[in-house]
Amino acid sequence: ENDILEKLPLKGKKVLITAGPTYEAIDPVRFIGNHSSGKMGFEIAKASANLGAEVILISGPTHQKVSHNLINLIPVVSANDMYNEVHKHFQNVDIAILSAAVADFTPKEVASQKIKKKEATLLLELVKTKDILASLGAIKTNQFLVGFALETDNELENAKGKLKKKNLNLIVLNSLNDTGAGFKSDTNKVTFIDADETVTEYQLKSKAEVATDLLNKILEQINA
Ligand code: CTP
Ligand code: CA
Repeated sequence: ENDILEKLPLKGKKVLITAGPTYEAIDPVRFIGNHSSGKMGFEIAKASANLGAEVILISGPTHQKVSHNLINLIPVVSANDMYNEVHKHFQNVDIAILSAAVADFTPKEVASQKIKKKEATLLLELVKTKDILASLGAIKTNQFLVGFALETDNELENAKGKLKKKNLNLIVLNSLNDTGAGFKSDTNKVTFIDADETVTEYQLKSKAEVATDLLNKILEQINA
């Protein structure tokens, strides 16, 4: 029995994960999106389920497939949809890992008809989306809250800033400067920074291995 418990250290725990991009509608046929593949978030979901967790995976549009009966995939489209869905579940989870590449801005108005190319230029007014991660940091009680930071400069400093500002237990710094890391890649190079600002840097690895490293780090922290 001890063996089983050791192999399923997340049994009985609920993990909420966000993944993928969000699509922000411009008109009925167009949107603003980004190149997130969703791979990192889906790998974290799989690794969590493999450790026995019940997973709620809230994802923007991706081509990823779910292949584990402990993963409940909730597809969403926009940043606002993702915000609402995350808040429906947050109070009931033990761990929340927000890896989605959420749009920071969304069109102020969605045109009800397809926009015609009548003028030489088109100005779109964008407004900021709600920061899902920060909103969870503001209300969290016992949940272990993990964020990601995508940085191209001043990486450590910016990531530490986000950790503090958003009231996180752990932040995963993703550097876009590293070749082989990032959005479309199967590999990733990450640095973890925990609440007391301990920095752990990892080599370039497959996203599946990064997911395992992340869950080990979380387990080490919640069991400390
Ligand atoms: N995030 C979120 N909701 C948003 C924007 C970001 O939940 N509207 C989350 C991401 O999922 C990620 C973290 O916040 O876990 C950091 O995202 P990032 O884009 O690196 O930072 P921002 O806070 O959006 O700041 P900026 O893009 O200006 O660096
Ligand atoms: Ca952002």
